[in-house]
Amino acid sequence: MSATPGTQVPTIELNDGHAIPQLGFGVFQIPPDETEQAVLRAFETGYRHIDTAEMYGNERGVGAAIRAYGLDRGDVYVTSKLNNGFHEPDEARRAFEGTLDALGLDYVDLFLIHWPLPTLYGGDFVSTWQTLEEFKADGRARSIGVSNFQVPHLERLAAETETVPAVNQIELHPYFQNREVDAYGGEHGIATEAWAPLAEGRVVRDAALAELAGRYGKSAAQVVLRWHIERGRIVFPKSVTPERVRENFAVFDFELDPADLEMIDELDRGEPGRNGPNPDVFAYVPS
Ligand SMILES: NC(=O)c1ccc[n+]([C@@H]2O[C@H](COP(=O)([O-])OP(=O)(O)OC[C@H]3O[C@@H](n4cnc5c(N)ncnc54)[C@H](OP(=O)(O)O)[C@@H]3O)[C@@H](O)[C@H]2O)c1
Repeated sequence: MSATPGTQVPTIELNDGHAIPQLGFGVFQIPPDETEQAVLRAFETGYRHIDTAEMYGNERGVGAAIRAYGLDRGDVYVTSKLNNGFHEPDEARRAFEGTLDALGLDYVDLFLIHWPLPTLYGGDFVSTWQTLEEFKADGRARSIGVSNFQVPHLERLAAETETVPAVNQIELHPYFQNREVDAYGGEHGIATEAWAPLAEGRVVRDAALAELAGRYGKSAAQVVLRWHIERGRIVFPKSVTPERVRENFAVFDFELDPADLEMIDELDRGEPGRNGPNPDVFAYVPS
């Protein structure tokens, strides 16, 4: 971990040598016509890493905010993800061009397969991954990775393709710590990005976390984000509430004691703690 110049946000070095800011801003469920303002608020706070996706429908707003704020391209880290409907290679190529067009950028920092969809496309996510390898080779994606991949999916990529994903973006929060997938990533140089890092806001209603947070003079959300960061994960909490956007960024002026990190580890409920879909069976394709 090293500090990003000009901000307090540490970076993590990915397996391809590129650095990613460990804290970013997620825009899932932010309506397209509100995204530019939300991302501008994030930039004003200091965030320089934005996580969007084709399926969020708001890449255009992200690009508009980058231009409106006047950021140099090298000063912002942008991730997007392939739409579930476009896994077939030619469709993926067209969709990726659409992403660059909507963002108004000539490259993204990171492009992901959003879901493995093992029950669709004849179970073939390998040719999709090989298509992302093309985007990396031609420089239009600085890094490529996956999202919601389970261990057998990662093992298959390792056996059948050349590139180890730089990241795996998975559901991970105190109640669902996704330990097997996270550990596989740790052993194979795949950085874990934790989606729904605040369990979609549920952590703020947790009495044990509230008690712990009180001892640090912090909020439960801040303590949970700090736990993710100290455990080496990448996070991008989403909020459309200005004070929460600032609160979620103010996590670099304290450290958790080892016993408190372990206390949060112990909140894991295993599979019953999962909130989102199970990637083994998830088969949603936008109409
Ligand atoms: N790869 C995938 O399949 C996948 C799936 C889901 C999410 N993601 C990514 O991960 C990002 C984050 O996940 P998420 O948006 O699902 O969940 P999250 O960040 O864990 O939680 C967001 C929710 O928590 C609330 N919240 C945020 N900060 C808070 C705070 N300090 N105190 C109290 N409540 C707070 C927000 O409310 P307000 O907005 O009303 O303030 C919102 O309802 C997404 O935006 C997206 O980029 C990826």
